[in-house]
Amino acid sequence: MTKTVCIKTYGCQMNLYDSERMADVLAPLGFVCTDDAETADLVILNTCHIREKAAEKVYSELGRLKPLKTRPREQGSTVPLIAVAGCVAQAEGGEIFRRAPQVDMVFGPQNYHRLPEMVARASRAAGLVLETEFPTEPKFDHLPHSREGCAGPSRYLAVQEGCDKFCTFCVVPYTRGAEYARPAGDVVEEAGRFADAGACEITLLGQNVNAYCGVAPDGSAWRLSRLIEEVAEIPGVGRIRYTTSHPTDMTDDLIAAHARVEKLMPYLHLPVQTGSNRVLAAMNRRHTIEDYRSIINRLRAARPDIALSSDFIVGFPGETEGDFRATLDLVDAVGFAQAYSFKYSARPGTPASLEPQVDEAVKADRLHRLQARLDEHQLSFNRRCEGRILPVLFETRGRRPGQLVGKSPYMQAVHADAPETNLGTIQPVHIVAGYANSLAGAMDERCVA
Ligand code: 5AD
Ligand code: SF4
Repeated sequence: MTKTVCIKTYGCQMNLYDSERMADVLAPLGFVCTDDAETADLVILNTCHIREKAAEKVYSELGRLKPLKTRPREQGSTVPLIAVAGCVAQAEGGEIFRRAPQVDMVFGPQNYHRLPEMVARASRAAGLVLETEFPTEPKFDHLPHSREGCAGPSRYLAVQEGCDKFCTFCVVPYTRGAEYARPAGDVVEEAGRFADAGACEITLLGQNVNAYCGVAPDGSAWRLSRLIEEVAEIPGVGRIRYTTSHPTDMTDDLIAAHARVEKLMPYLHLPVQTGSNRVLAAMNRRHTIEDYRSIINRLRAARPDIALSSDFIVGFPGETEGDFRATLDLVDAVGFAQAYSFKYSARPGTPASLEPQVDEAVKADRLHRLQARLDEHQLSFNRRCEGRILPVLFETRGRRPGQLVGKSPYMQAVHADAPETNLGTIQPVHIVAGYANSLAGAMDERCVA
């Protein structure tokens, strides 16, 4: 019998990947995906705990779902099972049932492969299901292969999960656990299956992806650079990316891969968080600004056109105006093509949450100033692309009829009028305008491949 599952995903790319895998696990039970929570038999919120705002979103969504449990039974209407998965589930566990009694299931990121058994347990007369253990068997070994045919041209592939770094602001080491690297052979096999299903771009994912060190088929250990080289050998794979990386794991072999592997895209998200050495130390980031700048210089020597992106936190406990100015200076010195910036959010159980906090108004002011500076650099990078012919991977239809939206090698969204047959392919596109958040392109006579 066909049933429907509505999976709502919050947070990072790892959650997007996990949501796809949850759908794969549920498919053999007869579940098909729907976007409509109103009619679904099972609603799963795949949640993010990284900042307080993200975590609180879950409770507002649960508030919206509550009436589904109590609405009068019309003909054919179902009472769905409601599940909270992901990092909020891992961090808050049974507390979620107390705050939101409409929830039937709470399970952490290491338990998805046990979904069939959990759904069966929850379906049996009102049994609450709570699974937030870190089971000893790695979950990847128990997840089914991703289904073919449902793939888009750009796919995420988890190669590593968890984090051993313990930055003092971050919940990830607690919600995702210790670092685990998938065996290299499994990753290459999965990349091959993605390519067979039409994927042209593969993004290797991990909380600390460049710390990857996995067992190779011959028993040796492969670092990320070797994994990238092997994935690049797969016919059909046109582009490779990896995210998210930590500066201390940006090893010479990986930097060299940016020069050697043509399919490795000239874009790197390398979070630095702050421009102040003092704050970096308080964050336990294990590197200095000088280290970071040296990595950037070496990356640029290897791949001169590489575009850089970062995450920033403003208002970390103890951050002074001088520390913050150092962040602005770093932004100017590096010239990031793109970046994400956040106000520090105290997270329960993390060391920095116990320190005296920076005033909210000061945080808001610094975020505003930082974002204005980052926007300037992003616009200037986009403008510098005007007049160039860039290879664009077309991924979706645009808002206007006849328009497609794709991605440049530098991760910019590119809008262009182009035939639908170009969907899922990489085409040369003449960049006619660079805007704040995207590029406008044209498939004119200059773009004959
Ligand atoms: N407060 C604000 N931002 C945070 N991040 C992680 N933890 C916090 C926090 N407690 C940001 C970091 C990280 C990104 C994924 O989220 O910049 O790189
Ligand atoms: Fe969090 Fe730091 Fe690990 Fe990134 S490296 S996941 S910021 S602890």
